[in-house]
Amino acid sequence: MDWGMKNRLSKIIKPKDGRTVMLAVDHGYFMGPTSGLEQLDKMVNPLLPYADTLMLTRGALRNYIDPTCDIPIVLRVSGGTSIIGKELLHEGTVVSIEDAIRLNASGVAYSILVGAEFERDTILGMTQYIDEAERYGIPVIAVTAVGKEMVRDARYMSLASRMAAELGAHIVKTYFVKDFEKVIESCPVPVVIAGGKKQPEAEALKMAYDAIHAGAIGVDMGRNIFQSSNPVGMVKAVNAIVHKNATPKEAFEVFKGNKK
Ligand code: R5P
Repeated sequence: MDWGMKNRLSKIIKPKDGRTVMLAVDHGYFMGPTSGLEQLDKMVNPLLPYADTLMLTRGALRNYIDPTCDIPIVLRVSGGTSIIGKELLHEGTVVSIEDAIRLNASGVAYSILVGAEFERDTILGMTQYIDEAERYGIPVIAVTAVGKEMVRDARYMSLASRMAAELGAHIVKTYFVKDFEKVIESCPVPVVIAGGKKQPEAEALKMAYDAIHAGAIGVDMGRNIFQSSNPVGMVKAVNAIVHKNATPKEAFEVFKGNKK
């Protein structure tokens, strides 16, 4: 691995403990003005001090984020379908590698949809992007998206995660499922979990804790933070789980503002 790749990876995964809190606010690329992100800058700016990485689209980056801020960026580079279209997640490349470099991305995120009719398109799109990104030392995060008709279990997540790693992804983002250790054991690259739909805060914190203790190196969490009744409290609580080994109970106290 070359120096640039290692350096960029260290911006995403903190070398002090090998973990990361990725704040995901890229939802607009297929969901439009997602609840909580209508005025993305107002929501995101207060959360940045507690996140290690910001994952978003190039349009959100250009329009809402101050270029002098020092948070490392993971740029969403796949897309092409919407939540109301017929082929949700049949994605292809929507940002060139040159633009990712111009925007000083520390990494890029590309979705694949294993098991769907069009899995081949998404997988070849990702591998082509990995070839381009490796030319410039930019890590690729494979987002193992799950179609509505697919079963979210350890077998499926292991399949999708291992495939993504074998095909060259540097980090895999997947969903937390029962027996998550099995997903981790068979994936040779670092794994982060997506938060998924909004849940009660205590449940989301328990999920983050269980994922970390099963071997995930962090979270790439969006709605469970920015749709929370207390987004700043929630990102602080998630940070406490990821970086300070807080228990779900301790983290819930952080969320409520009772504990630093
Ligand atoms: C989905 O593919 C998007 O990339 C989201 O960023 C991702 O799902 C994480 O956000 P959430 O925690 O809201 O699921």
